[in-house]
Parts: sequence; structure tokens; C-alpha cells
Amino acid sequence: MGFSRDFVWGAATASYQVEGAHDADGKGPSVWDAMCQRPGQVFDANHGNVASDHYHRYKEDVALMKQLGLRAYRFSFSWPRILPEGEGKLNEVGLTFYDRLIDALLEAGIQPWATLFHWDYPLALYHRGGWLNAKSPDWFAAYTRVLVDRYSDRITNWMTLNEPQCFIGMGHLDGNHAPGIQLGMDDVLRAAHHCLMAHGRAVCEIREHAKQTPVVGWAPVGSVAYPYENRDEHIEAARTAMFRVEGGSLWNNTWFSDPVVRGHYPEDGLRVFGHAVPDFTDADMKTICQPLDFFGANIYNGYPVGMPDTQASLRPAGYPQTLYHWPVEPDSLYWGPRFLFERYQLPIVITENGMSGTDWVAEDGQVHDEYRIDFLTRYIRRLRDAAADGVGINGYFHWSLMDNFEWHHGYRHRFGLVHIDFQSLKRTPKKSAEWYKTVIESNGVNL
Ligand code: GCO
Repeated sequence: MGFSRDFVWGAATASYQVEGAHDADGKGPSVWDAMCQRPGQVFDANHGNVASDHYHRYKEDVALMKQLGLRAYRFSFSWPRILPEGEGKLNEVGLTFYDRLIDALLEAGIQPWATLFHWDYPLALYHRGGWLNAKSPDWFAAYTRVLVDRYSDRITNWMTLNEPQCFIGMGHLDGNHAPGIQLGMDDVLRAAHHCLMAHGRAVCEIREHAKQTPVVGWAPVGSVAYPYENRDEHIEAARTAMFRVEGGSLWNNTWFSDPVVRGHYPEDGLRVFGHAVPDFTDADMKTICQPLDFFGANIYNGYPVGMPDTQASLRPAGYPQTLYHWPVEPDSLYWGPRFLFERYQLPIVITENGMSGTDWVAEDGQVHDEYRIDFLTRYIRRLRDAAADGVGINGYFHWSLMDNFEWHHGYRHRFGLVHIDFQSLKRTPKKSAEWYKTVIESNGVNL
């Protein structure tokens, strides 16, 4: 048995990474607009002002999605395009962009999967304290209400936050993502707590006000440990490593997902973070822990764990890597979903998976990204194995539909199925796009 008959095959993007039109039609600035203006923050002084110009070319992009046979498109809303100040006055023209996008998708027979927040936080709210402000869950709830009122007649699939580990950890602790600050751990955990509250409040808004029965999840990063060898001790060691909190970093699964799904912070995290843990109440935890319909996981790689619990040294010398120097680890798409499904007991949707390369258009006019086909074949096969072994897996979204602005790496990394020439903005589907179409058509049987 492989993927279920109603398995959702899609591709994903995020607003700041693809839309461009950074100040068009009344959009307010986001923390990423500000970050890109700071010298030295982004590779080659790249910025998202134009990006893939999805804002203006969405029709062409939806036509490409249709040509690719996509069943679903995961995109995110730009909060400051809709609420330029983050709250209060609505930008009607911004709202109509998503009306048109959603309508075009539905007309093409493609399900919209909407992420409420994929990192383009309104700069105006950042100036009022951003995620550190205890009001930030209220702001997020109000923003969610706008989206639900406007779009829930056409959207049923919702994700609240994308990768809180990154926008809190890389944004507020390491400082290499927007807003680009380095706070002490106590402030970082306070910001994280508010973002978890925001998640819970958003789920309530969706459930209470959606015009159709909603399907709600979220999309944290699935940091994956997998067994070096397929034997009990290694499996147990990998499971332990995967659900552990280590000091000094937010790069873990449980600090974020345990509150969201199980209603409490993990014991080891409370110990490790100690005095830095913010004060919180039982009512907070109730707010955070709302019933979900699926668990989204963004999985790109993992690390092998054996006995005793050692890590990277278990990789062979010269192991394969992508342009990011991320190791190629197909087993992560087996063990990641399996461990997450065991612990959280929610159907898994792979909300992102893919690889970055240096793709260019060859003289024959094609983009020969055979390595991406090989990468995805290996990964999706392992996902199929997990499904066959009884792990509930409802969908797979490739990251990304198209080449785009890869945060502080600018345009250096290309993750798309569709190549973008960032000067002419010409779209060229890569070899992997044609290949992905056959995977979708066969529901993964041809892998
Ligand atoms: C993330 C984000 C995406 C990235 C992708 C590749 O995981 O960082 O969700 O926006 O572009 O993951 O790094």
C-alpha cells in the first residue's frame, strides 16, 4: 500500500519570497523589507522588492501549476499587504489580490492551502514591540479574523504559523533573519510564548467563524533524528534525540509542538531553560492547545543517531549535500513523519521538502535539474514507505513551486520546480517539474 487515494500533491511558496510588489497598492512595510535595507544582512544586497513578481504574474503561475498537474498550492498571506499598520485599517486592494489568486486556483481545479503567517511581520507592529508585546496574540487573532471572514467561503485548508523555530530563533536569538535582533533567552522565550498563544487564538478564530468546516494545522520545522541502523536501540536513541530540548538553541520539536498538541511545555525544556522560561498560566496553555486536524512538517534533512548517542560523525566522509550544504537524507522523510505521528497522533502533511541548487537555463532552453529528480525520488519513496507502514500521511508539498527569495541568502539558492530569471522574470519549468507531474498522475506509484 502506498499513498491514499485522496493524497494531496502540491507545491508551496511564501508571500515575501515570491510576491514582490513590496510597496504596491497600499502595502505596508514588513520586517523583511526593513531587514533587506540594512547593509550586509542579505547576500549581495538582494531584496524582495520584485522577487518572483507573483503579485503581478499570478495568472501565469496558476496556469503553470495547472500544466504541472498540481492538486494543491500552499501560499501565505502578506500581513502588511492586508493590514499596512498590522491592525486597524484594511487595505482593500491587497485583499483583492488574494481574492483573485484564490479564484484563479479554484477555477484551475487547484486547492488553496493558506498559511496565515510565513514571516513577513508588519514593521509597524514590530515598532510596538512585535512578538514581545503581550498584545501580539490579539493582533494576530484580529488579522486571522479578517482572513477568515473574507476567504473562508473558498478556503478550507489553513495553517497558522510557519516554522516558529526560525522566525523566533533566527529572527530574535541569532539575528540573521528579520527582525534581525539578538535578545536574551528570557525575551526570546517570551516572544515564543506569545507566538504560541497567537497560534491558539488563530485556530479559535478559524473554527468559530469559518463559513465551511475548516481543516486546520500548523507548519513547524521538523528537525529529524533517524536511526543509524534499523535496530531497536538506534530507533530508541533517535526518538529520544528528536524530542529533546537542548540549551542555547530553539532548534527542537517539542518546545513548540508539545504545548500546541499536548498542552504543556516539555519537562526537559523547562529544566534546560530554567529561569528564562516566562511566567504563564493554565489558561495560556489551554489557549495554545487547540484541536488540530493535521500536523504540518517542513522536512529537508535529518541526522543519524546510533549508540551511544553520537551524531554527525556517523555520516560517511564525502556524504552528498545540496547547495546549502544540507545533507541528503532520504530517511528523514520516513522517520520524521513516523516519530511525529507517534508522538502527536495527528495525520502528517509534509508542508515543505526540496533542495536548493544552482540551476540555470541551458543552451537548449531547458533546465536540467536531474539531481533534484534523484533527490525527490529517494525522499518521496521513503515517505511512501512510511505510509505503507501505517503512518498517517495526508499530503506532500514541494518547496518550492518556483525559484524565489531565500531569506538572508537572497537569490543564491534555487529551490523551484520552475526556474525564474530574476531579470526578465521569465518562467521556465525545470525537468523536475515535468517529472513531478508524472509522480502526481501515478499517485507516487511510478517512483
Ligand atoms: C524555511 C521556510 C522556507 C524556506 C525553505 C528553504 O524552511 O526556511 O519555510 O521559506 O525558503 O525552507 O530554506
